[in-house]
Amino acid sequence: MAEAEQILEMLHISKSFPGVKALEDVSMSLAAGEVLAVVGENGAGKSTLIKILSGVYSADAGEIRLQGERLLLRGPKDAIERGINTIYQETSLVQDITVAENIFLGRQPTAAGRRIDWKRMIESARGIMKSLSIHLSPGALVSSLSSAQQQLVEVAKAFSRDAKIIIMDEPTASITVEDADNLFGIIRKIIRAGTSVIYISHRLKEIFQIADRVMVLRDGKTVSVSGVKETSEGEIVKHMVGREIGNLFGDASYQSGENVVLEVRDLARTGVYRGISFSLHEGEILGFSGLVGAGRSEIMRGIFGLDPVDGGEVLLGGQRLGRSSPAAALKKGIAFVSEDRRLESIIQGFSVRANITLLLLVRVLTRFGLISARKENGLAARYVTEFNVKTPSLDQLVMNLSGGNQQKVALAKCLSTNPRVLILDEPTKGIDVGAKKEIHTLIKELANRGVSIILVSSELPEIIGMCHRAAVIREGTMVRVFGKGELTEENLMAAAVGHMAGGSKRNG
Ligand SMILES: Nc1ncnc2c1ncn2[C@@H]1O[C@H](COP(=O)(O)OP(=O)(O)OP(=O)(O)O)[C@@H](O)[C@H]1O
Ligand SMILES: [Mg+2]
Repeated sequence: MAEAEQILEMLHISKSFPGVKALEDVSMSLAAGEVLAVVGENGAGKSTLIKILSGVYSADAGEIRLQGERLLLRGPKDAIERGINTIYQETSLVQDITVAENIFLGRQPTAAGRRIDWKRMIESARGIMKSLSIHLSPGALVSSLSSAQQQLVEVAKAFSRDAKIIIMDEPTASITVEDADNLFGIIRKIIRAGTSVIYISHRLKEIFQIADRVMVLRDGKTVSVSGVKETSEGEIVKHMVGREIGNLFGDASYQSGENVVLEVRDLARTGVYRGISFSLHEGEILGFSGLVGAGRSEIMRGIFGLDPVDGGEVLLGGQRLGRSSPAAALKKGIAFVSEDRRLESIIQGFSVRANITLLLLVRVLTRFGLISARKENGLAARYVTEFNVKTPSLDQLVMNLSGGNQQKVALAKCLSTNPRVLILDEPTKGIDVGAKKEIHTLIKELANRGVSIILVSSELPEIIGMCHRAAVIREGTMVRVFGKGELTEENLMAAAVGHMAGGSKRNG
């Protein structure tokens, strides 16, 4: 009987937060060894659903049944004990200890005298990783691993705890396509062992690679559940946003100006990057492509003055920025939306309004004195509408918004300053398809208005669809700058991994 195969059922789950109905009568089931994808726009309720399943939140109504038995969770520990393991987007690994210690954290094998049995722990970790074909050394420090590798450690850790269900909330948001393929190979091994996987992602293509069924949430309600063979990407998008959204990148025929706005000469930071030289024109969108960890974010932090540099210079409109600080860069018209929005781009404990107008205040106050509350409200309201930020009010604390909506606030905050140069580090990471298109359109509009934009992205289609030119960074050096006609996935990928297919080095 099909019933008997269901390992998990969530029945009629509802959950409200002040002013927000996050989930309304949502039901789902999961079979043993199945991969269920959960998709939906930013704020649709995906993370809330899995937080209920992993014991972080309790539902207002409804019940969870695990192997036919009603499941009552008093907290995340309960969920783990019952075999429900969750891997969140932000890693929960302890950075300064080894892979093996992380896998067995809190339950290290002990020898006589209750001392940790290191040999056994290393051997067990090796065995678990081997069974999943994860090629990492159990003795390596986690801090020495890339984010993709750290994710594999998380998978090994979850799997080693006799997981019945492993939940992954946007596991591929910050890793490359190759790393994602590798992760999928490992997921296939997990499900062959009978473990089930719930998989949340905004990359819809992945769903067809890895999932058996896909559930679409919209505004906290289930819109559809279908087998991946019975649906299509277009249909999923339609269910997600309630309309068709058309070509993602729109028209690519637009021009950048001749004037050089920003010039970077031989910028270097010892051991991180060196010899970074390029110029950015008025109204240009210059891409920065490369593998995760190649040093792109570090270079941007150097330009913006978040990190010190050891050599080289940055010129804005022909003038040296000098030893700049973020505040100085901002005053001169450079704005930066960092990749790590949670830590750097927004203030979690401030309201949506305060976050959006924060930088503006810094900039405007010094020149014109006070900004009126009405103006502040108007501006915040405009961005909330323009970006479709899902929030009950402008007073909502940013920490209560869904991940993607936090990202939109981070963008709005930078745009409110009317920058001349805008540096965007993975601006659509974690953003749903509908909002992604809005953000792309907005970036192009800004460029058309003369704003010069640096776009760091790990998504090749985004670089190709958006940029006039794109630099490829590999191991802290600038391999090459490709012109519009040369922007192909093959060229960018080959340069990123170091297989140059002929052609000469050219900096622009
Ligand atoms: N702790 C909280 N307090 C108040 N509101 C919350 C809280 N957690 C979530 N919400 C709200 O519940 C709704 C659903 O949020 P959730 O995080 O589940 O969305 P999501 O589908 O995971 O979105 P994303 O794709 O952006 O991660 C959103 O409107 C969000 O602002
Ligand atoms: Mg989420």
